[in-house]
Amino acid sequence: RPAALISPSILSADFATLADECKRIVDLGADWLHIDVMDGHFVPNLTLGAPVVACLRKHSKAFFDCHLMVSDPAAWVQDFAKAGADMFTFHLEAVADVADLSASSAHPAVADLAKAVRAAGMQAGVALKPSTPAELVFPYIEAGLLDLVLVLTVNPGFGGQKFMEDAVSKCAPLRAKFPGLHIEVDGGVGPSTIDAVAAAGANVIVAGSAVFGAERPGEVIATLRSSVER
Ligand code: DX5
Ligand code: ZN
Repeated sequence: RPAALISPSILSADFATLADECKRIVDLGADWLHIDVMDGHFVPNLTLGAPVVACLRKHSKAFFDCHLMVSDPAAWVQDFAKAGADMFTFHLEAVADVADLSASSAHPAVADLAKAVRAAGMQAGVALKPSTPAELVFPYIEAGLLDLVLVLTVNPGFGGQKFMEDAVSKCAPLRAKFPGLHIEVDGGVGPSTIDAVAAAGANVIVAGSAVFGAERPGEVIATLRSSVER
């Protein structure tokens, strides 16, 4: 699998001092910064949007791993590109009705959005809610349209939820079929759940409360990394 990348979710940081929090966590060893964008519609919570990303970009050269939990991700591609986002990960369920998706053919709306994300200069990712089968994303990976697949191990919306063991098993077939793909796991990941995440084949590790809530976040980042690389 590709090298481990630790992407702390700033959802659990102090939003009043976000630029300082980003710097602190990168200095402690974070590879990426995971930025959770919620619109109060796709998920029952509101966080931040492209204007905040643009402000952070002035303070940080870090890789901004943006996870868009929004109903109309296509509407935000240009704004996030201009704001300096590096990865734009949108939800499969937001772009098409899951009942209209198949493991054997690409849905044009999903393919077109992935292409638009790259055309805007960002990397393209697709996120899957716990209930969405992994196979539904295969056509877009096979077509070479995606840089990353994000496997949610909680229902999206809030930090600090309990890890869903069943959901992480979706990583294994993805890893078997696509050895070079970035597979990201997000939700309830920390030192007590990282072994299951690593065994399933993920290499990009999101952790919000486990990192920002720790007395020594740098030690948590190091533990997550060594568990994946072992
Ligand atoms: C959930 C978000 C996650 C969240 C993870 O909707 O996508 O990125 O911040 O937080 P923890 O690690 O606390 O579960
Ligand atoms: Zn996230």
